Amino acid sequence: MKKRPVILGNWKMYKTNREAKAYFEALLPQLSEVKATVGIAVPFTAISLCKELAEGSSVMVGAQNMHSAFEGAFTGEIAGKMLSDAGAQFVILGHSERRTLFQESHEEIRKKVEKALNEELTVVLCIGETLEQRKAGYEEHLQEQLTSALGDLKKTLLSKVIVAYEPIWAIGTGVSASPKQAEETHQWIRSTLETICGKTAGKKIPLLYGGSVKKTNIENFLEQKHIDGTLVGGASLKAQEFASMIPH
Ligand code: PGA
Repeated sequence: MKKRPVILGNWKMYKTNREAKAYFEALLPQLSEVKATVGIAVPFTAISLCKELAEGSSVMVGAQNMHSAFEGAFTGEIAGKMLSDAGAQFVILGHSERRTLFQESHEEIRKKVEKALNEELTVVLCIGETLEQRKAGYEEHLQEQLTSALGDLKKTLLSKVIVAYEPIWAIGTGVSASPKQAEETHQWIRSTLETICGKTAGKKIPLLYGGSVKKTNIENFLEQKHIDGTLVGGASLKAQEFASMIPH
């Protein structure tokens, strides 16, 4: 039997606290009988409030980025311990929007991954290729992203890592990878993780698909053997829609 799927939402830079409150009030009553692990990555300013609102439910609250330092003179940045302190249970790292729009390097992402895990946050590491890279063969690019972020990490830390495969050409475009394409890539990622992290640890890391996942296609992804869940952007912004995507 397949494991309980992990369904994560990523609000990106959307929602004031007032909007977040209305969302949680609409979402939570619909999640009493879900057969999934559910989490939402919210803006920094909404973490405490969402954590409070989610109390008594099984919804995890997470963040979308953090700095790699413990603390320091980094105006405008947020440290991992501040996320934990505000109630975040997980943090998305290496999202393609961070890599491309904010020039985050492999080295920087690696530092963030280690820091987050040491702060006991679960890390949702995003990897993905552009259309050109896919055409040229996605393997080299994804291998580099995985090795730089997870290679030589302490085995004990790996139990708090989730990997999200998000092809860049599918994010926010309405054009998802086909379930077959995603499944093939996930199968390749799984065996690569087993090489990088060791067989036992590499087998256990949940592998999510992200990129234009919506109500009409989520089931097709979840039924694939190597897909353990999904990371949902745009379609997670409306409580009703997101609730209807979670297996009951
Ligand atoms: P999308 O975004 O579902 O809107 O394509 C996914 C993501 O960026 O995590």
